Amino acid sequence: MAILKIARMGHPVLLERAADVVDVTAVRGLVRDMAETLVDSGGIGLAAPQVHHSLRVILVSVPAGRAEDDESETPITALINPVLTPVGEEQVIGWEGCLSIPGLRGAVPRFQAVEFKALNLNGEPMSGQARGMMARVLQHEVDHLDGILYPMRMKDHSRFGFDEEIGRYTRKQEA
Ligand code: NI
Repeated sequence: MAILKIARMGHPVLLERAADVVDVTAVRGLVRDMAETLVDSGGIGLAAPQVHHSLRVILVSVPAGRAEDDESETPITALINPVLTPVGEEQVIGWEGCLSIPGLRGAVPRFQAVEFKALNLNGEPMSGQARGMMARVLQHEVDHLDGILYPMRMKDHSRFGFDEEIGRYTRKQEA
């Protein structure tokens, strides 16, 4: 187990298209270290490129009280080679931060709901539908696998700034 160094915006690994995982057993150690790194950082999602591994692996964890539709605690889930399909056209704007862009926050449009398909850590297919905060985190993390950072998704850059300042003038969950 190890806490991994997180790449910050400007590092080229964050702009690459990450490679598909061919052998799931080969990334189990990476996933364990990513889980430890995610807990240590206090984040709610982490993608392998953020820890300098250009592989299609993401971890998501939406704690109780932050999921819009489900108040129960969500454990850390690893998704290997995840693929998202939007459910409907509806997009919602919400505040996002990123461990690779520390101290900043921006208002980002995302699909309200997505279907996801991936492999689990046993290499078995998993699928489901996510809404609200979980849908937002999935879209943010899968974007990392395609070299996309949330500021590149923003339409209104007047709503991009330092977390501390925005927190002072805007309620946290307000879009
Ligand atoms: Ni991020």
